[in-house]
Amino acid sequence: MQSDVRKRLLDAFTKSSEEFLSGQYLAELIGCSRTAVWKHMEDLRNEGFELEAVRRKGYRIVKVPDKISENEIRLGLKTKRLGQHIHYKESVDSTQKKALQLSLEGAPDGTIVIAEEQTLGRGRMNREWYSAKYTGVWMSILLRPNLLPQKAPQLTLITAVAVAQAIEELTPLLPEIKWPNDLLINGKKVTGILTELQAESDQINSVIIGIGMNVNQESFPPDLQSIATSLHIEGGVKVNRAKLIQAVLTRLENLYDLYVQEGFYPIKLLWEGYAVSIGKNITARTLKETFHGKALGITDDGVLMLEDNSGKIHYIYSADIEMQN
Ligand code: BTN
Repeated sequence: MQSDVRKRLLDAFTKSSEEFLSGQYLAELIGCSRTAVWKHMEDLRNEGFELEAVRRKGYRIVKVPDKISENEIRLGLKTKRLGQHIHYKESVDSTQKKALQLSLEGAPDGTIVIAEEQTLGRGRMNREWYSAKYTGVWMSILLRPNLLPQKAPQLTLITAVAVAQAIEELTPLLPEIKWPNDLLINGKKVTGILTELQAESDQINSVIIGIGMNVNQESFPPDLQSIATSLHIEGGVKVNRAKLIQAVLTRLENLYDLYVQEGFYPIKLLWEGYAVSIGKNITARTLKETFHGKALGITDDGVLMLEDNSGKIHYIYSADIEMQN
């Protein structure tokens, strides 16, 4: 919708003392037909506005969408690098894809891409990631760390701790981490992390950390209901998404600085404090193999150690985990 028409329509509702404004009144105000007004109102509906249209009375705005603005994220953000360059989009295919494009164009360390909606959100193992409009945090963070490529998986674990801390900061909920990248609340997934690397032999060019947080969804599609949840479903209240983004960026920057100064060990201790799969019998499915056994813990590099029934220890770098007890 042309933004000036949209602005004038919204202004008309804001300024009017009447709840309902007729199509005729709006058409005269904007200088268009009533059919055109109807189309503009449908556009607003598609943008997340809840509208009521009543015969002979006209239109009423029932609820405005819970949108985040770039300024809301910027205001009060106390980080030095993360989020200093923000690319905010109403809708994208995937923030990962957009971040990769920005990375190739030379975007600086700490650049973030945030979208209100993803039409082709991606999860690990090329799964689809459900990213409904105005409900979650769909964000990709571009980092240019001075690290060996094999250390990149540690960034996923650092991010998981940062997200867990941010959830604890803003809600009374108790998040748990299922290795390597799932955050659970009451056993259901509330956040997924996808770390993608662009590297040449022994040098990282960029790492893109994609974070998908289920925040204010009131329900999920039937196929996800038994495995996914949101902070709103678990806590019963809506969570301010801009504040949550700020908290994640601040925590991640602090943890990352700690990691650069002191290595992975302090992060490992924090991570273990949230870990839910350690000590449990698990099934780990990698792209090539499936392992059954007990999750012993993670190495100082963040690699999962699994002991199978014969006592052999397997070092697992990337897998899907299912817990048996
Ligand atoms: C997973 O658990 O499988 C990882 C999910 C990662 C989803 C996020 S949402 C923001 C970013 N853009 C994407 O397309 N995926 C990641």
